[in-house]
Amino acid sequence: MSHERENWGSRFGFIMAAAGSAVGLGNIWRFPYLTGTSGGGAFILVYVLFALFVGLSVMLAEFTLGRYTAKAATGAYKQVSRQWTFVGFMGVLTALFIMGFYPVVGGWATAYIFKGFTGLLQHPEAVEDVFGAFISDPVQPLIWMVIYLALNIAIVIKGISGGIEKAGKVLMPTLFLLLVIIAIRGLTLPGASAGVSFLFKPDFSKLDGSVALAALGQAFFSLSLGMGCMITYGSFLAKTEDLKGNALIVTIMDTCIALLAGLAMFPAAFAYGVDPAAGPGLIFVVMPTVFANMGGLGQVFHVLFFIAFTVAALTSSISLMEVVVDYFIEQHHKTRKQAVLYTSIIMVIMCVLASLSLGVMADFHILGVGVFDFLDILTDKVYMAIGGMLLCLCVGWSVKKEDIYNEVTNNGELKFGLFGLWYGLIRFVNPILIAIVSVSGLIANENRALMIAGLASIGVMAIFSKKMS
Ligand code: PHE
Repeated sequence: MSHERENWGSRFGFIMAAAGSAVGLGNIWRFPYLTGTSGGGAFILVYVLFALFVGLSVMLAEFTLGRYTAKAATGAYKQVSRQWTFVGFMGVLTALFIMGFYPVVGGWATAYIFKGFTGLLQHPEAVEDVFGAFISDPVQPLIWMVIYLALNIAIVIKGISGGIEKAGKVLMPTLFLLLVIIAIRGLTLPGASAGVSFLFKPDFSKLDGSVALAALGQAFFSLSLGMGCMITYGSFLAKTEDLKGNALIVTIMDTCIALLAGLAMFPAAFAYGVDPAAGPGLIFVVMPTVFANMGGLGQVFHVLFFIAFTVAALTSSISLMEVVVDYFIEQHHKTRKQAVLYTSIIMVIMCVLASLSLGVMADFHILGVGVFDFLDILTDKVYMAIGGMLLCLCVGWSVKKEDIYNEVTNNGELKFGLFGLWYGLIRFVNPILIAIVSVSGLIANENRALMIAGLASIGVMAIFSKKMS
């Protein structure tokens, strides 16, 4: 019954693909703007703690479950017990919902590559208005979203090692290099030091349940956790690979790139007088402003930066799409082509609505928010955090300890001195911590109705778990 699973071509290829999934809009677009709107340093501190303790241990648990079952998310949970099937299904839904807005922002990034040639940089004072007008336009962002989605389809249709691995290998290092250069440029601008203190001097009066939940959700989002993606990737990993080494590298890379993006953004924002709390448009305003003030080379940097940014987004969104495609292939026995077709149709519809919700459909609200925010809040503040908690409970309580130990140590071949600590995190600390943060976030959050509805939907899925395919 079990069909042959393709393996990753090489260890480097796997790391690049997993890091490619992790590093994306989450690091470069979402992390800086959340930092800006959540008050800076205190948010960053909590974020880094969550990423390194909760995130890393959850990632290792996902790799372990994936390789142990050799199945993509839904299949993996189902194999442990049918009672858990719904968590896999929830992960597929999460991937689908994230892909209901991710390509919208991916489309903005793609469009900005070309805006480098259309005079955007000649008018630094208008950069902010140009962005506002662009995303609320009823047609333009839709075209770019479709172009971006088409790139995803082209890669995913080729299958795992062919497409994903190649894309990751070439373009991740490019992005890293560019961010370093931009950060150095930003840091050497007059007035940049205010940005550095904003980033690294925590103001704890800004911390509340809502900020903590935002940081936790962001850690899950950025590390691609709590929705089955890393389970699926782990399932392709060879039995000889060191799971904890891989998890550590991916977590550190992802966290460093987020911090680096912060360093590239805030010193420059302060130097040029851009409001750090500008929201989702932050990167699309700060970066072109930096480049516009660079003189002749600015245009080259602008184009290079938005290419690398778009590619980073692509290596993440293909992994999201892969989760949904794998679901159709494994659970509904579709061919890859059919699976990609169904997935794409659903995504286009959601993305159109999400994009329009920032303009002509701004007044259309579901549970108090527009479509874009609905998908964003539901996935990041509810499904991923709870998904991570349920993953921990599944691995910690429903799989034999011995099996987990054997899987994570390659049957005793690798040493894992911290096994007890990790296992304790998975069984007790993470689930309790996530519960506390979620509840306090729920209490402090203004979108309570939506979050409660999200939790209720998880309850319904849990009840029907055994009936799910
Ligand atoms: N981690 C990706 C990013 O930061 C987003 C993502 C989330 C990808 C979940 C896969 C799964 O952009």
